[in-house]
Amino acid sequence: MEIVVSGIRSTGNLHLGNYFGAVVNYLKMQHDYQCFFFIADYHSLTTHPTPRNLHDNVKQILSEYLACGIDPEIATVFLQSDVPEVTELYLLLNMNAYVGELTRTTTFKEKVRQQPDNVNAGLLTYPVLMAADIIIHKATKVPVGKDQEQNLEMTRRFARRFNTMYKVDYFPEPSAFNFGHQLIKIPGLDGSGKMGKSEGNALYLTDKPEVIRKKVMRAVTDSGPVKENQEMSEPVKNLFTIMEVVSSPDTVNHFRDLYNRCEIRYGDLKKQLAEDIITFTTPIREKVHEIYGDNDYLSKVVRTGAEKARESASKTIREVREIIGFKPF
Ligand code: TYM
Repeated sequence: MEIVVSGIRSTGNLHLGNYFGAVVNYLKMQHDYQCFFFIADYHSLTTHPTPRNLHDNVKQILSEYLACGIDPEIATVFLQSDVPEVTELYLLLNMNAYVGELTRTTTFKEKVRQQPDNVNAGLLTYPVLMAADIIIHKATKVPVGKDQEQNLEMTRRFARRFNTMYKVDYFPEPSAFNFGHQLIKIPGLDGSGKMGKSEGNALYLTDKPEVIRKKVMRAVTDSGPVKENQEMSEPVKNLFTIMEVVSSPDTVNHFRDLYNRCEIRYGDLKKQLAEDIITFTTPIREKVHEIYGDNDYLSKVVRTGAEKARESASKTIREVREIIGFKPF
């Protein structure tokens, strides 16, 4: 059976971008593939969380994974930091990852811009740790959003380089995956760019209805179309993109028609959008709350997950050590 690996950093709650870019695929894939879904808590150290925040965030994302419908009886759900084998593979891959290619990565350049006072080596080698996460289970498919395309390209490159260097056909080259064929980018509410935890433009699955209404009503738009079938500005297009994932096709078509006839009132569009987001997120939010309170259950999920993940990871590490030339006397 084909193997799937994916993860989400534990640096804040899940937003609609995480859900529609990644999690929605996890839910479908868990039935047809051997899936490993983890929480990237090592990766979250690149932004220096406090010990208290680190634990709370991990617990929150784990509760959200489960509330969304990831089934730990079918998929392996675990914490990255519970699988120390991944750090060994990370170290080994680092020897064949070059500073030049790492500094050229778009996500690294973005982080340098976002946190100029904390450009740590963990940020630079972020794609190497990500490659280790994926290839340690010999995955072939990685459900992620469009922003991760380049990191996946790096993963393939590191896998290929290992195979070439040691003249083996050991690691498969995994590819980014989305059921809808194209990788997705959910935009933010600020008129440009993608929805993101660090951008302050996100709608979270656990946002209360009044918060969602407030955020959506404040979303950037424009002064309205002045001629029929006018091309949409970026901010308006973004609202329609969000509407396409949470609302019914009839609703989307209704507002598109109004736009094309220059009869649209953005206030009405936003009101409808907010209500549709609330309808979508409410059952998840309620479930998160319930699961978060059940510490015994959460601890059982991560214990079982860690066991399964380590079984697969330690096999790879044994074989990799041998390929590289570490041998017992
Ligand atoms: P993170 O936490 O930044 O994002 C988690 C997932 O959500 C997707 N995503 C989006 N998709 C569409 N539109 C958006 N606006 C949007 N924002 C986020 C991301 O593409 C991602 O799929 N580096 C990974 C975490 C990771 C990982 C891995 C993923 C670490 N190791 C191994 C897969 C395999 C990340 O950026 O997480």
